[in-house]
Amino acid sequence: MSEVSEVSEVSELGEPREPTSSPTQTRAVLSCTGLARAFGALRAVDGVDLALPVGARHALIGPNGAGKSTLFQLLTGGLRPSAGRVWLDGRDVTRMSDARRARLGIGQTFQHSSLFLSMTAAENVALAVERARGAPWSPLPRQRPALRQRIDELLGDVDLLARRDVAVSALSHGECRQLELALALAAAPRVLLLDEPAAGMAPAETERLAALIHELPTELTLLFVEHDLDLVFRLATRVTVLHLGRVLLSGTPAEVQGSAEVQEAYLGTGRRADLFVTDAGPERRDGDREAESP
Ligand SMILES: Nc1ncnc2c1ncn2[C@@H]1O[C@H](COP(=O)(O)OP(=O)(O)OP(=O)(O)O)[C@@H](O)[C@H]1O
Ligand SMILES: [Mg+2]
Repeated sequence: MSEVSEVSEVSELGEPREPTSSPTQTRAVLSCTGLARAFGALRAVDGVDLALPVGARHALIGPNGAGKSTLFQLLTGGLRPSAGRVWLDGRDVTRMSDARRARLGIGQTFQHSSLFLSMTAAENVALAVERARGAPWSPLPRQRPALRQRIDELLGDVDLLARRDVAVSALSHGECRQLELALALAAAPRVLLLDEPAAGMAPAETERLAALIHELPTELTLLFVEHDLDLVFRLATRVTVLHLGRVLLSGTPAEVQGSAEVQEAYLGTGRRADLFVTDAGPERRDGDREAESP
């Protein structure tokens, strides 16, 4: 993208603009076109197009600093783009706040923890449920029967019911990541963005998380960033490789694994060998889902 075209997009974004849509955007639940974000001279995200159909299991991979988390924040509304558009159900949400996008169905978990350590698992979920309902913030929502039932449902969904009254500070790292998934699910999102859900996990914890993600409702559209490429190739039906803020390749796991260009992008990162992992053992489930159409 030239400097000139980016500048013209920036000034265009400064003006109120009627929502627009195109046939491609209306077919996708969440999509973006020409999405870009610069930090000073650095083009962290540089003209990205992405389209997630309903029920997608779409992974976003790329070396450190490729722009994955920045792209996530542009999609969720945590950051404003320098250029480009974000679409939810064919509706232009580019100028909407993250809170409004969340209400419209975009959920997320973050690369870094967002839990209240001194509260129990149930109390953290209670806060998320109340926030999703738009209830005024309270340090500790009263757990009425309906709220209690919802909390238990969500904790059950992430296999943490037995840990409901344990303080987060006493949970294992893997359990904390499971709890973060419950918080994101509390708002009943239609699209869920997970930023490195397996980061720092022991192999057994990763297995547990993989099973939980695999069991999420099929109609829930999923976009996840993950450095554990074995996990990526097991869970994703489509993979987008980001490099230096641009899409290097978007394809099936097999296409990405077989790409010399992708292997080149990973050279020097110490992760190149991971791309060739093809045997994830008996838990491997990548044949369970139909590949998405491009
Ligand atoms: N708020 C910011 N201000 C300035 N530069 C930033 C900011 N956020 C990100 N960057 C830079 O933008 C680039 C992309 O960062 P980003 O966090 O999106 O990468 P990433 O692909 O998520 O990396 P990782 O795999 O390490 O999480 C990096 O060079 C980073 O230093
Ligand atoms: Mg990141």
